[in-house]
Amino acid sequence: MRQAGRYMAEYRAVREKFGFLELCHHPEAAAEVTVTAVERLGVDAAIIFADILLVLEPLGVGLEFSVGDGPVLQHRVSSAEDVARLAAYDVDSALGFVYEAVRRARQGLAGRVPLIGFSGAPFTLASYLIEGGGSRQYVRTKSFMYEHPAAWNTLLGLLARLINTYLRGQIAAGAEAVQLFDSWVGCLSPDDYRSLVLPHSRAAMAGLSALAPVIHFGTDTGGLLPLMREAGGDVIGVDWRVDLDNAWNAIGFDRAIQGNLDPVALFASPAQIRRQAAAILARAARRPGHIFNLGHGILPQTPVDHVRALIDAVHELSAP
Ligand code: CP3
Repeated sequence: MRQAGRYMAEYRAVREKFGFLELCHHPEAAAEVTVTAVERLGVDAAIIFADILLVLEPLGVGLEFSVGDGPVLQHRVSSAEDVARLAAYDVDSALGFVYEAVRRARQGLAGRVPLIGFSGAPFTLASYLIEGGGSRQYVRTKSFMYEHPAAWNTLLGLLARLINTYLRGQIAAGAEAVQLFDSWVGCLSPDDYRSLVLPHSRAAMAGLSALAPVIHFGTDTGGLLPLMREAGGDVIGVDWRVDLDNAWNAIGFDRAIQGNLDPVALFASPAQIRRQAAAILARAARRPGHIFNLGHGILPQTPVDHVRALIDAVHELSAP
């Protein structure tokens, strides 16, 4: 999930000098933020400092991050004509700055922990393109999907090709695993996911598992897990709205699972955090293939000491 962030004083200090997008575009600073978070927390893996929306920037949609409101796109997609005007771009040159951050982060980590690369998934990226930012009900996205199915498939097909190239590039630059964030896909019915999203998620991940393990993550996906497995991923990431053992059973024990502590649990006392971590580990029952993680991104007000307490508890409770 999000590892570096505003909850961390070291990150806030770097953000005094750079805007958020500026920081993403600065490989040296992005690598430093990535490595500092690992050192501060004592986690077992790093995730490259970047954002899922970077894939959308070269499409010329006017991506901005305004303080407090999250991401905004100045030129959202609202018609089939808008989709027809979107052009594929040369991913390796337009997003090469992320590859460079990956290379530098690998150097900085010096083999201490593996580095995870990532991208947004076709559905979640399309939702930002069509809504023009975040959304609660995805009315514009779903209306577009139902009213313009051909343009929808063109749009998600384009995104899937960009994502696949981008993830291959991150792996070539040194990412040792990649995560596909379909953060908002849980708003869909299984039938809509199956027909309008699954083929594009599959295309986005095509061929990647032969190069590096792929983590396929979404939130609110209790009803979609077997379909997400079908779409692909060596690991399926789940949030806290589903019990880990039930989720794993739905996915199949021949795949790995990632999750699934509620990020808000980190506001409780360290003793309570430890109890919640123990409950998740009990559901994993020491089966091979469980990656302990939060079920979604860490919140800006989270006390860093509580995150460290969680990591210590997980290490202790899962020691052989
Ligand atoms: O170094 C790391 O730990 C990488 C962190 C990371 C960021 N974004 C940095 C970030 C990751 C893994 C992401 C992925 C991302 N970005 C997702 C998928 C994960 C999820 O939460 O579902 C999504 C949906 C986004 C889009 C996005 N980026 C939103 C909605 C926001 C606003 C959130 C907020 O709290 O303001 C961002 C901004 C963002 N991305 C920040 C960080 C550290 C905060 C920006 C800041 O510094 O002001």
